[in-house]
Amino acid sequence: MVNEEEMIVTPWEVRGKIDYEKLIREFGTQPLTDELMERMKKDFGDLHLQLRRRLFFSHRDFDLILDRFEKGQGFVLYTGRGPSGPVHIGHLVPWIFTKYLQEKFHTNLYFQMTDDEKFVIEDEMALDETTRWGYENALDLIALGFKPENTNIIFDVKDIGHLYDLALKVAKKVTYSTAKAVFGFQDSTNIGWIFWPAIQAVPCFIHAKLTGENVPVLIPAAIDQDPYWRITRDVAQKLGYHKPAQIHCRFVPGLGKGGKMSASEPETCIFTTDTPEQVKRKIWNAFTGGKPTVKEQRKTGGDPYICTVFQYFLYLFEEDDEKIAQLDEDCRTGGVVCGDCKALLTERVNRFLKDHQKKREDARKDVQKFYLKA
Ligand code: TRP
Repeated sequence: MVNEEEMIVTPWEVRGKIDYEKLIREFGTQPLTDELMERMKKDFGDLHLQLRRRLFFSHRDFDLILDRFEKGQGFVLYTGRGPSGPVHIGHLVPWIFTKYLQEKFHTNLYFQMTDDEKFVIEDEMALDETTRWGYENALDLIALGFKPENTNIIFDVKDIGHLYDLALKVAKKVTYSTAKAVFGFQDSTNIGWIFWPAIQAVPCFIHAKLTGENVPVLIPAAIDQDPYWRITRDVAQKLGYHKPAQIHCRFVPGLGKGGKMSASEPETCIFTTDTPEQVKRKIWNAFTGGKPTVKEQRKTGGDPYICTVFQYFLYLFEEDDEKIAQLDEDCRTGGVVCGDCKALLTERVNRFLKDHQKKREDARKDVQKFYLKA
């Protein structure tokens, strides 16, 4: 029996109470130290709120990327999305950060839309459905303001001709016993899925292949993707490429109790296509750090650290550090109660979505400009 609170973190499943220190130890990654924060502050001139507030907390070789940046040597960015449904606000978080990095680094971004992956791993999904979601989800990426000149969205099924040679080279260097140990494959796992990790490795090397410029990639992504990079890092040098570097973020919680925002529980996540009424209802039903009655909460205060509404201010919707500190204190001392925060968050989310939805529709005519330039 699996204990309900037991932490499970794989690229396909995130469950239980997440202990991020333990993940750093178990995955063998490095913490994002104060020293690295200081370096970034110097290099970038400012620190994004996702760094200041430690949403990004771990890395592999990020220090080497900063060395290269400081010496004016090149590198590129890589991240991606498994398109199995609509995008929710939690998905936007690392993409927003990627855009910040892209602006600071002035570099190319490769973004992998894995319609193939979602087809092989999801029992119920048809291939034309995951492909269609891929194009829909690309609109959300484009709406964030990425520039077509330096952004390459790879749609796996469409672009396989550009990926297949590298995938084969990776696949030949990874044994079944390694893949099984890293991903937990079983006898009943379909062989499409077993081969698939080779495809996720490809964008780590595609810039080198297409341009002849052999530079490393930096991958900003949630830490559940780390197993892929372990495999890729092992084969990179054997293939004559740099090991990919990573910067890892935490999971953005859903509006329900515990866990990450998950599209399989639609009432606990805010989709980018939700209406103002849907947003209001979802936030109204959110799990907070409040007390059973307002009277009690006014007297004893709430707990912002277990509150999902507070996390949305912290990671996305309140830029001002002083206001966050004030909200934290007001919550603890009963100065603000949950109704106040929910009303304010609803307003902020709806304002953001109104703008995002417009840009998302405008992006429909532009998708082709973001195709892989190959
Ligand atoms: N496997 C990822 C998912 O299911 C999609 C993905 C592909 C990705 N390449 C990536 C995510 C690189 C982050 C970084 O969501």
